[in-house]
Amino acid sequence: MQKRNLGNQGLEVSAIGLGCMGMSFSYAPFPPKEDSISLIRKAVELGITFFDTAEVYGPYNNEEIVGQALQPFKNEVIIATKFGFNIQEGKMMGVDSRPETIRRAVEGSLKRLGVECIDLLYQHRVDPKVPIEDVAGTVRDLIKEGKVKYFGLSEAGANTIKKAHAIQPVSALQSEYSLWTRQHETEIMPTIEQLGIGFVPFSPLGKGFLTGTIDEKKEFAASDIRAIIPRYSSDARVANQALVDVIAKFAETKNATNSQIALAWILAQKPWIVPIPGTTKIHRLIENNGAAGIQFSPEELSELTAASEKVKIVGTRYTEAMEAATGI
Ligand SMILES: NC(=O)c1ccc[n+]([C@@H]2O[C@H](COP(=O)([O-])OP(=O)(O)OC[C@H]3O[C@@H](n4cnc5c(N)ncnc54)[C@H](OP(=O)(O)O)[C@@H]3O)[C@@H](O)[C@H]2O)c1
Repeated sequence: MQKRNLGNQGLEVSAIGLGCMGMSFSYAPFPPKEDSISLIRKAVELGITFFDTAEVYGPYNNEEIVGQALQPFKNEVIIATKFGFNIQEGKMMGVDSRPETIRRAVEGSLKRLGVECIDLLYQHRVDPKVPIEDVAGTVRDLIKEGKVKYFGLSEAGANTIKKAHAIQPVSALQSEYSLWTRQHETEIMPTIEQLGIGFVPFSPLGKGFLTGTIDEKKEFAASDIRAIIPRYSSDARVANQALVDVIAKFAETKNATNSQIALAWILAQKPWIVPIPGTTKIHRLIENNGAAGIQFSPEELSELTAASEKVKIVGTRYTEAMEAATGI
């Protein structure tokens, strides 16, 4: 697997990472812990060196799974985690990036991951009550103390990114980006390109929809976030199938699968982008990794982009309440 750099501070990771959230959060039902550990270790074997988790996934047990799985590979891989929520009795009670909360989260993450230093620490969501300078300053101090190596933000706006970067250089922005979620192209991506910040697209497969394996009849468990996301209503899925059809057509001509085309399209946008598709299945992990070997000619890339832009995506990516509270 080729490597890519995120930011200008020396962070180098595999061109495709592994999102571990779905192993214990958002996409119930979850696989047994041992299966997730085997899958993460298989990813290492396949050349993946970039693993994504967060304090709030579970909460807490996702970091334990990732930490346990990667214990034998501690110095060979990059583990990214996130702080930024007030978690009470296992429930997410809104954003919280007060310095004392960041410090408490970091101590917990270090313990659960079983590491002495967090490779990449993101603020999970911007906290409007805490100046971003205070957040960046706290992470800068944690870096000085040797508890954190690199700083990241998630779903932050351009001004927030600039203000944070001025206090502590940001290595990566993690925000949603895929063939059906492209709003960050107008302002955010040019901003981070100018500042030399890497981009880590989350939900690069549209939470599974772009792979063509989810039709309008598929039912999600009540606790699966996709049961309530507008873009995943049955009507929206019928309309949005047109995008899956576009991807499938390209997949056929490139002798690839939908997921590989969706990921290869992201990789082809910029050399400083590293998608982190999530899966709980080894055969899909292998399939997704195959995207790193797919090249588009400039004509193919423009054709795919243009064809996908013709599809009007129905439904928002989150409910309004989710967007307001957390965005997750
Ligand atoms: N910063 C944030 O706020 C934020 C928000 C969301 C996610 N994330 C991170 O980003 C990572 C990835 O995002 P995501 O998990 O939301 O979405 P995703 O990677 O777009 O899609 C994951 C879904 O696609 C399915 N899938 C994966 N590969 C497939 C394939 N080849 N064929 C068919 N289905 C496939 C998975 O199901 P199976 O497990 O059944 O394969 C899973 O349900 C997460 O794990 C998390 O670490 C961050």
